[in-house]
Order: sequence, then structure tokens, then C-alpha cells
Amino acid sequence: MIKFGVYSIKKLKKIKNFSKNRKRISILLYKISNHKQKLSKYKDHILLNFADSNGIYKRTYEGRFGNFDRGIINYLTNQNFKKKVDIHDAAISDGRSSIDFFNKLNFSLNINKFHCSDFYENIYYLRISKYIIIVFGENNQLYELNFYNFVFNFIKKESLLYYPINRFLLFFLNLYFKNNLIYYKKKNKYKIFKLKLIDKQIFEYQKNYNYFKFTKKNIFDKFQLKYDIFRVMNLINLNYFKENKIIEIIKNIHNSMNDKGYLIVGSNQIPNSEVDGGIYMKTSNKFLLIKEFGDYKLINEIILKFERGKY
Ligand SMILES: C[S@@+](CC[C@H](N)C(=O)[O-])C[C@H]1O[C@@H](n2cnc3c(N)ncnc32)[C@H](O)[C@@H]1O
Repeated sequence: MIKFGVYSIKKLKKIKNFSKNRKRISILLYKISNHKQKLSKYKDHILLNFADSNGIYKRTYEGRFGNFDRGIINYLTNQNFKKKVDIHDAAISDGRSSIDFFNKLNFSLNINKFHCSDFYENIYYLRISKYIIIVFGENNQLYELNFYNFVFNFIKKESLLYYPINRFLLFFLNLYFKNNLIYYKKKNKYKIFKLKLIDKQIFEYQKNYNYFKFTKKNIFDKFQLKYDIFRVMNLINLNYFKENKIIEIIKNIHNSMNDKGYLIVGSNQIPNSEVDGGIYMKTSNKFLLIKEFGDYKLINEIILKFERGKY
């Protein structure tokens, strides 16, 4: 079989049933869907199978944590915070789930600062011809190639078993464009465009609320502030990181939180599906489990294993 691509809004609109769609949707369509309100419903589908250079998916949804958010917020509002709270929501992808969280929290808590972040904020592209566009990352990593009727993804490749022709073509296109990308960039022959993978609402909220701020941030790097509430959804996952890396993340978050602050972590699938996760209290040297949701045993054990000074 051959897999063709969806590289125009016209083609995207023609898809009647996304769960049956077998075509690869180009990430370049995110830009258009971010500018036009009536196209924003397509964002979920555009991000669904796009991943960063480490293979971590960018997929996210508005209303992703409906019940989970409500439970967490009920719990937090019953805590007696002595001062206005500082909150961080990390690894937010385009930020729509973070806007949900902020809207709910803003009603019920006295917020001092609401910070949200993601490490992969921008990707870049250059157009070689009307039918060829290369999409790449900051380190010149090839992400995607729009090539005539095809959309090739270099990170999440098509199955070799079902789409051998796509894989065969991808192999040679990868060799060719990997070498030539540097050349195209050096030559200054083609204009490089930036594609922000952040929902435009994030920037509107930043304008409207002086305590709301988005930053580009690697979860492994030191955070500037100490937070009372720290949330990371759909990143701390054994499909993405080995145990020692998860411990590194937990250590960094521990260093970035005030004692008696709350860590919220979890993973789920589609909007409002059950979350496997937990809420933890930060003490001077570790995290204590307050409540576990769904099946979070493996990650739970790693988080509870962490002890300051030991790792
Ligand atoms: C599956 S998405 C989760 C998005 C959102 N939290 C949600 O649950 O809907 C994972 C996100 O983690 C981000 N990410 C991957 N590595 C990261 C890192 N080292 N630091 C910060 N964010 C990272 C990716 O860019 C992606 O946006």
C-alpha cells in the first residue's frame, strides 16, 4: 500500500472520519488552524502523530483532563494556602490543556504566578519548490517532508510492513535532504519560516493576565522560581524515559518546589479519558503520595523512591 499526505486545508476538510483516516497530515497545517478560529477544531488531528526529535508526541487536546482536573482542583481549593500560589504547568505542547487548567484554577485559587512551558516551541520550514517543503528542528533534525502528494515523517515513520514503498522513498529522500538542508540554509537561497507550535490563546492570556507566562523550558533544566503547585501531564512515562531519567526529572522538580507544595502527574489518551496519575506533597527531602488515580503503580514507585541527597 502507499500512504499519501494531507498538505492543504482543503484536503483536511474533506476527511469525514478521522479515526479511519489513513493519510499522513502535515504539521504545516497547524499554522493555518492556529490563525483561523473555525479551523481550530483540526488541531488535535494535526498534532496527533507528530513527535519531537526524541519521539515524544506533541498530541494534546482541549478538555483533556475534565474529571481529573475537577478532582485535583477540588482537592487544592480545600488546602489552606497561606499566601498567593505560584503554579507551573510543564510540557504543555500547544498549551490548550494548560488554558483549561488555568481557567479552572483562576476561579478557585489566589494565583500569584501561573507559568507554563514546553521545550519544543518552534519548528522551521523552507520551501524548495511549489511541491517540496522541508520541515526541521533547531538542530537541523529533519521532521517532515512535503513532497508532491506525499507527507513523509522522519521521526514517526510509516510501518515497513504496510507501507514499504513509503519507507523505500523515505530512505532516499532522507539521505538527500539531510545533506542538502545545511547547504540550502548556508546558501541563503530559500527563506526560512518559523512555525510556532503554541496555541495563539496562550499569547492572548499572556497579554490579558500579567501573572500568566509561557516560556520555552527543558524539564531537565533548573527552574528559576520555586512553585507551590507543579503539574506535568503525559510526559513522565516509561515509554518516553528510562527510570534514571525520570528520577532526574523528579529531582529537578523537587528542587523547583516549595515544601508542602503539590506535584500533579499523570497520563491518559483522548479528552476526558481516565487518567493514570497521582498527586504528591513535596517535603524537604522527598514526595509523599496523597492520592493515586487509575493504574500508576510503576511511576508511583519511582517518584516515591526519590530521596534528596540519595540521587
Ligand atoms: C504528549 S505531549 C503532552 C502535552 C500536554 N501536557 C497534555 O497532556 O496534553 C508531551 C509534551 O512534552 C514535551 N517535551 C518533550 N520533552 C521535553 C522536555 N525535555 N522538556 C519539556 N517538555 C518536553 C513535548 O514537546 C510535548 O509537547
